[in-house]
Order: sequence, then C-alpha cells, then structure tokens
Amino acid sequence: MSQYDVLCIGNAIVDIIARCDEKFLADNTIIKGAMNLIDTQRAELLYSRMGPAIEASGGSAGNTAAGVASFGGRAAFFGKVSDDYLGGVYTHDIRAHGVAFDTAPLTGNPPTARSMIFVTPDGERSMNTYLGACVELGPDDVEEAKAKGAKVTYFEGYLWDPPLAKEAIRLTARHAHAAGREVSMTLSDSFCVDRYRDEFLDLMRSGTVDIVFANESELKALYQTSSFEAGLDLIRNDCKLAIVTRSELGSIIVRGGETVQVDAIEIAELVDTTGAGDLYAAGFLFGYTTGRTLAECGKLGSLAAGLVIQQIGPRPLQNLRQAAEQAGLL
Ligand SMILES: Nc1ncnc2c1ncn2[C@@H]1O[C@H](COP(=O)(O)OP(=O)(O)OP(=O)(O)O)[C@@H](O)[C@H]1O
Ligand SMILES: [Mg+2]
Repeated sequence: MSQYDVLCIGNAIVDIIARCDEKFLADNTIIKGAMNLIDTQRAELLYSRMGPAIEASGGSAGNTAAGVASFGGRAAFFGKVSDDYLGGVYTHDIRAHGVAFDTAPLTGNPPTARSMIFVTPDGERSMNTYLGACVELGPDDVEEAKAKGAKVTYFEGYLWDPPLAKEAIRLTARHAHAAGREVSMTLSDSFCVDRYRDEFLDLMRSGTVDIVFANESELKALYQTSSFEAGLDLIRNDCKLAIVTRSELGSIIVRGGETVQVDAIEIAELVDTTGAGDLYAAGFLFGYTTGRTLAECGKLGSLAAGLVIQQIGPRPLQNLRQAAEQAGLL
C-alpha cells in the first residue's frame, strides 16, 4: 500500500516573471536559458531594473508536484520557505493544488526564495535565483512516513546548491529504498551539472538514484560530450531508466536495451518555456506510478509540457486530467 504516488523535493521558490529583450540579458550579464544564482544585492539591482512583473509559485520540483496532483495523482512535497508573506503564498498555492506540504517554515531570516525570470521574445526563460530560506532545508525536514510511503521520490539536482539538502536527499533515498520504492532526479541545468558532475554520477552509479530526467544539454554536460548518441549510450548503463527531453523534438526514454521515442505535441504559440521540463516529469511520473507503458508516460509528459509553454508561468492553468482525457491519453 502506498500513501503517495510521487514525493517531490526541491527549492521552494516564488517566481517573479517579466518579459525583456535580448539586450537586457547582455547588459545585465545574465546567462540565457540558465539558472543564475544571485545574492541579496544583485536581487535588489535586477528587481529595480525589471519591468512590470507577475508573481507565481514555482520551483522546479514544486511545479512537478503540482502537475502530478493536477493529473489526479497523490503528491507530496518537501521544501523550505520562511514564515513571511511569500512563504504564505507558496504554501497556499501548493496545498491548493492538492499537494501534501508540511515542511516546517523557517522563523525569520533568510526570507522565502525568489527567482526573477526574464522571458525573451523567443519564449526562452533566464532565471536569477536568490535561494533564501532554501539553504536551511536539511535532514531534519525528512518525513520518514512520506519517504517510505511514496511510490517514487523525485528531487532536483538544484538541491546540491544549498549546503544541507543533499543530506536530506540521501536520508530520503535510504528510507525509500528500505520500503522498496524508487528514487528519481532531474539534472536540472547544464551549469548545475558542471558544478556537481561527479556527485551526480555517483548518485546514479551507487544506486541512490534509479531514474534520471535530463534535457539534451544536461546529458551532454554530464558526460562532457558533444554527441547526443554517445551520451544516451552512457546514461543507459548508469541508471535503470533515463528520460531525455529535446524541446520540440520530443523525448527519448531508455531502459536497459529498450529505447522509446516520444513526439512533442504541436503547439499554437510558444509563450514561455518556464516549467517545460518540470511538467514533462509530472506527466511521466503520473503515468509511471499508475502503471502505464513508457510510451504512454512520455505522451503524458509531452502533453503537460506542451500546455505549460503556451502560457506564462510554470504551473498549468488547466486541469491536466481533463486535458489528458480530451487527448485520449487517459
Ligand atoms: N517548442 C516546443 N514545442 C512543443 N513541445 C515542446 C517545445 N519545447 C519543449 N517542449 C516539450 O517540453 C518537453 C521538455 O522540453 P525541454 O527539453 O526544452 O526541457 P527543459 O530544457 O528542461 O525545459 P525548461 O528547463 O525550460 O523547463 C519536451 O520534451 C517537449 O515535450
Ligand atoms: Mg529544465
């Protein structure tokens, strides 16, 4: 018996989203398409230069948890907010999606994390993240019953940036595996892979992680190769199941000798790519934990990702179960 389908663990971040032109990124030395880490001073500077913005609860694994719940899956989340205004907003939003979220908030400073996300006319998002309260997430925040009671745990590679979260992940993985569950991760960002390549490979090769999600550039960064095919052959041997997304080219899923190719859905207009990878993982994991084939899991991922990139913000506005039923996937 499982209590949850998916337990997600990640940095709990409120997104502050605005449009900008290419020149703005260059003038402010923001690496396009990346997650740029910033301190308080730079956060203030960038915010003062930002145009009219909208706020939305985000965070990579938090978005995935919300997506799983929108499909009708049972989702839980571990992540650290502060007991401030944005922390209250974050908590409300993730719970309103139906996600079980009980991590104790931090009292006082540092404040709840925020990411200033600049969306260029091509739809690409460039994130500037102040980690705030996330630096306090640690092993004390691991709820053993949830770790043992979730069919699959899913965490972000981004959690290697704050100091203590990796200990929380290792503890959660021990609980999960002791209960016969599976553990998955996303490689998050190619620069993040560059920072923690050896540790990520060790998580996979030691069996701490069973399932890996990556996009094409993260896969290439992991194996320091320019060849997608070479990267795919390597990851096939390093984990039980790997899912590699390729934007409009869809995704490729490898499990042992098996390879499954999944198409992206056709979209009317690319508005904001924020959340594409997160929502792909949500659809895939909902399918996976409800016993579907890899091809079906991939199609649910493509649908959720394709919907979220046609709107602003990282969490789909429509109900994903209904959308999947309408698409004939459920
Ligand atoms: N232009 C597009 N058209 C249709 N589907 C897309 C497009 N871009 C992305 N997707 C969907 O989103 C999935 C994930 O996209 P991608 O590989 O770009 O992930 P990502 O780089 O992790 O995204 P992000 O980090 O911006 O959330 C793809 O497998 C595809 O299903
Ligand atoms: Mg991504």
